[in-house]
Amino acid sequence: MAGRNFLFVPGPTNVPDRVQRAMVVAMEDHRSSKFPELTLAALSELRKVFKTERGTPMIFPSSGTGCWEAALTNCLNPGDKVLAARFGQFTHLWIDMVQRLGFEAEILDSDWGTGAPVDRYLASLEADPKHRIKAVLVCHNETATGVTSDVAGVRKALDAARHPALLFVDAVSSLASIDFRMDEWGVDVCVSGSQKGFMLPAGLGLTCASEKALAASRTARQPRCYFDYADMTKANATGYFPYTPNLPLLYGLRESLRMLLDDEGLENVFARHRYLAAGVRAAVLEGWKLPLCAQAPEWWSDTVSAIVVPEGINGAHVIDVAFRRYNLALGAGLSKVAGRVFRIGHLGDLNELMVLGALAGAEMAMLDVGVRIEPGSGVAAAQRYWRAHDPVPHQRVAHREVVYASHSTGSTEGVKG
Ligand SMILES: Cc1ncc(COP(=O)(O)O)c(C=O)c1O
Repeated sequence: MAGRNFLFVPGPTNVPDRVQRAMVVAMEDHRSSKFPELTLAALSELRKVFKTERGTPMIFPSSGTGCWEAALTNCLNPGDKVLAARFGQFTHLWIDMVQRLGFEAEILDSDWGTGAPVDRYLASLEADPKHRIKAVLVCHNETATGVTSDVAGVRKALDAARHPALLFVDAVSSLASIDFRMDEWGVDVCVSGSQKGFMLPAGLGLTCASEKALAASRTARQPRCYFDYADMTKANATGYFPYTPNLPLLYGLRESLRMLLDDEGLENVFARHRYLAAGVRAAVLEGWKLPLCAQAPEWWSDTVSAIVVPEGINGAHVIDVAFRRYNLALGAGLSKVAGRVFRIGHLGDLNELMVLGALAGAEMAMLDVGVRIEPGSGVAAAQRYWRAHDPVPHQRVAHREVVYASHSTGSTEGVKG
């Protein structure tokens, strides 16, 4: 098909051209005396993304799933009990891993479309005076349902119950897109990956462990080898890796960190995601008049929206028509919500017009399979939202002033936008 494929799955996300170019590198000796410059700078910059001064970031050659496994196997002992809520496919899969690795899971099953039930976490922690629960698992952003959870609330529950369990957070589809605060929220292990907010291909497991988690790992007896924190932190201390690292991805990471931290600024990145997400929600709720899977505004995710299709319509059909006819990749409904939803990923390297392309394509695909929506209604609602709001207020105001000034003088001098 001519033109670009519109990639609107919630990861992998678009890789910006400059990140692509940064990854076109000749292979080099990863044991050279120069190599540590790359590693040490990346690890130090990653601290800013995790918002930690005390934590230790690590880069594993894996996707996010590898870092789930690393968290469990490094910090726990065989048979240990963990507490976790399940309200979507990714919360389900992490719990499944807990069980397959031989740990015991206390599961808080919640409706898909809701998020971490802080009060039930608290009740379980209070009901555990002997502190058998060794780790509490929370998914910051459940990608399957488009739900963001209150990680700080779960930390408060741990503190209120005076419970010493470690707090493990899955931030695979939130880190570098939605505000995440490792130190402030007392997170012990944060798990993420390269292919979402970091705008890279999959292949780097980005994780960060607190001092408490690293202390636990020094005595924890659960077998691990490839994902051993001790091997990784020992090699990283001098700027090396315990095995051959993926060089192109590390150069790509360096470029993506420059974009996130130096060029746009992390807080502006969060504001842009919030603003784009609000436009998508205007399209879904006001334009198409369809419900989101996320049951209440408190759960709305700024990186992915799962849209519930009307009775009698198969969400997979919408996705297939969007892909085959309009070259638009939308996210599928997974497991329990298969066929009932389709997802629009709105994270990474995106702006209004790119998202409008996805909304227009989704609209056409829905009309083609018989969803009764008003043609153009979603696109119009998103446009209305974005025209009435500023993504990062001070930047847009400055830009508008320049435009108005040039109109009043009839001159185009100084027009930047
Ligand atoms: C919330 C969440 N957790 C974990 C994963 C698994 O990560 P990966 O596919 O990078 O292994 C994903 C993948 O989409 C995810 O969205």
